[in-house]
Amino acid sequence: MNTTTAPDRYALVGHPVHHSRSPMIHSLFAEQTGQKLTYELIDAAPEEFESAVRRFIDEGGRGMNVTVPHKEAAFRLADRLGPEAEKAGAVNTLSFDGGSIRGDNTDGIGFLRDVTENLGWEIRGQRILVLGAGGAARGILPPLLENAPAELVLANRTLPRAAELEQRFRHLGKLSIRAFTELERDPAFDLVINATSAGLKGETPPFPESIVGEHTRCYDLAYARGLTPFQLWASEAGAERAEQGIGMLVEQAAESFYIWRKVRPDTKPVIAELKDFA
Ligand code: ATR
Repeated sequence: MNTTTAPDRYALVGHPVHHSRSPMIHSLFAEQTGQKLTYELIDAAPEEFESAVRRFIDEGGRGMNVTVPHKEAAFRLADRLGPEAEKAGAVNTLSFDGGSIRGDNTDGIGFLRDVTENLGWEIRGQRILVLGAGGAARGILPPLLENAPAELVLANRTLPRAAELEQRFRHLGKLSIRAFTELERDPAFDLVINATSAGLKGETPPFPESIVGEHTRCYDLAYARGLTPFQLWASEAGAERAEQGIGMLVEQAAESFYIWRKVRPDTKPVIAELKDFA
């Protein structure tokens, strides 16, 4: 009798994806929890996104993580949505079961766990600025608004995109929008979160330095070997702390892993291993 079964297949789809640490994280989770799975990287340009997902399903794939720039396309593709994805209008986790595609969003919970539990930073009562209005911003705005900040400002290069998110999330709490240049009129924020994908291209957009003061904590949703361009910018602007999104990456991956495997991995040793590796 042949008792060997092929491991279940998972993947990350994005553009670019070559820099991703997700395969390492999911293989550490699989090792830790005794799950048998593989996790690969699929680079797909926007026009190839849907066909890349359908091909992976046809090949027997069980689930995918979705990253820049496909999170909103994944939302449109899903047949069924979890509550966080429904709220965000963006999907970072796809599950393939019984012929239908389920979409979830684990970015919000991953972000919240890293910021409030791992780093111990407050959200309640804080003046918070989110830079960027794409798929990554969509995932974190609901948990931020639901945790009662004193003020939440959303700034984006393309103002209509920020306006669209203001419409979408205004029922969750007070959200105001700005163009980057308009931020010069605001006093320094308590917490500044970079949700733009500019760093992937090695750029830091022209944010006015006045958004950062000596007590400002900065968080980059992106991550890199060493410091990200936004972390460097924030440190030079005089921020009290400047963190990158490695912890969020591991926490959102753990939540995706739980959705797929119904087993919750321990994130602490994995975060430590990734920080050592960086
Ligand atoms: P993600 O899933 O990472 O959010 P996305 O949906 O493609 O990816 O959104 C990218 C975000 O980064 C957007 O807010 C984008 O600004 P625009 O809406 O104006 O395009 C922002 N972004 C990317 N490159 C940028 C740059 N060089 N300067 C400023 N903003 C940039």
